[in-house]
Amino acid sequence: MPALFTHEFATDPYPAYAWLREHAPVYKTVLPSGVEAWLVTRYADAREALADPRLSKNPVHHSEAAHGKGKVGIPGERSANLMTHLLNIDPPDHTRLRRLVSKAFTPRRVAAFEPRVRELADRLIDGFAARGHADLIHEFAFPLPIYAICDMLGVPAEDQDDFRDWAGMMIRHGGGPRGGVGRAVKRMRAYLAELIHRKRGESGDDLISGLIRASDHGEQLTENEAAAMAFILLFAGFETTVNLIGNGTYALLSHPDQRRLFQDALAADDTGLLRTAVEELLRYDGPVELATWRFATEPMTIGGQRVEPGDPVLVVLAAADRDPARFDDPDTLDLTRSDNQHLGYGHGIHYCLGAPLARLEGHIALATLFGRLPDLRLAVEPSELRRRGGLIMRGLRELPVEFEP
Ligand code: HEM
Repeated sequence: MPALFTHEFATDPYPAYAWLREHAPVYKTVLPSGVEAWLVTRYADAREALADPRLSKNPVHHSEAAHGKGKVGIPGERSANLMTHLLNIDPPDHTRLRRLVSKAFTPRRVAAFEPRVRELADRLIDGFAARGHADLIHEFAFPLPIYAICDMLGVPAEDQDDFRDWAGMMIRHGGGPRGGVGRAVKRMRAYLAELIHRKRGESGDDLISGLIRASDHGEQLTENEAAAMAFILLFAGFETTVNLIGNGTYALLSHPDQRRLFQDALAADDTGLLRTAVEELLRYDGPVELATWRFATEPMTIGGQRVEPGDPVLVVLAAADRDPARFDDPDTLDLTRSDNQHLGYGHGIHYCLGAPLARLEGHIALATLFGRLPDLRLAVEPSELRRRGGLIMRGLRELPVEFEP
């Protein structure tokens, strides 16, 4: 049985996941945090588990919650009173909150945002285009989503660098319980509460104003719910998109034939291929390695394996999306892949709320980057690239590149 959670595993977990899929598709392991959890690695089991109402998102169902271990969830969210967000709750609360936020976070709002994302991508590339080299994580993949979501929420431009710093603290620690993460979350929370309070009296056009105004059968979000919602939009929409841009760029740079296909499609303005390309990059090496926590609320079986109430269940999206029972040649990057119902955005009632924005940002970021810097190449050996720690996400710490200025 291959070792899990080692350095080699972090670099390339796919062989270990292939082994698990074949020999132990629902496997109990001890996570680096010391918490025991089931890993679900087959596509069919994963898809079923993601939509199973017997698996709760609420950490009170965790068998260890009673002992106050507090090792699951986003560091700092408990003390900052941000627990009531979509990824921690079940119906009927989830249904109500998701309906309310969907009224504000509409596809129309996302589509209208396209020129702004283009402008952001161009401005960031302007920052290093004359230099001939850059670290694409720090200078491009990292700032793009944070500025984009701040803009969308209505965080004033002069405060966005604070968000950049708080987000930097959260990402640098890989979501681990160390150091400044809790403090960064608390500052963000205090800022958002203040901003929401201020915007309540105004009739703004931004997403926070939309959240404040959204109502359903006379029901509205409380200020606390609106703050938790703004926080989860930032949290869920940030590191994920950093990784989509980072992992996607790296996958293109390390597959010359697919990269050529991508650049030909750009030159020909073949938006169909650009769209299937972003989906395939998500399937092949997606931003979210494991879906967020779920807990069994009753005795049940998953893929024939008995799971006890209170047991944590982690659905391994990265393993499911390489399952040969679902995808032809799953380990091949094929930007033209059409039958591509990957689980990169999850499945069921917690399916990614931000998928339209993520697709837009991924598409524009990659198209702008490879369009403006057509000879982009890695500046280091692939073996020198380091990955960020953290259980849920999969992403690069840096991505040094070179190009003709
Ligand atoms: C949920 C992936 C970008 C907001 C999820 C889930 C996944 C996911 C896998 C489900 C987690 C689970 O079931 O445990 C991604 C990926 C992204 C991305 C791969 C980028 C490529 C975004 C963006 C936003 C966002 C840009 C918002 C601005 C959310 C929210 C949820 C969610 C609010 C919770 C939905 C719910 O519980 O009902 N995302 N996400 N995501 N995502 Fe995303």
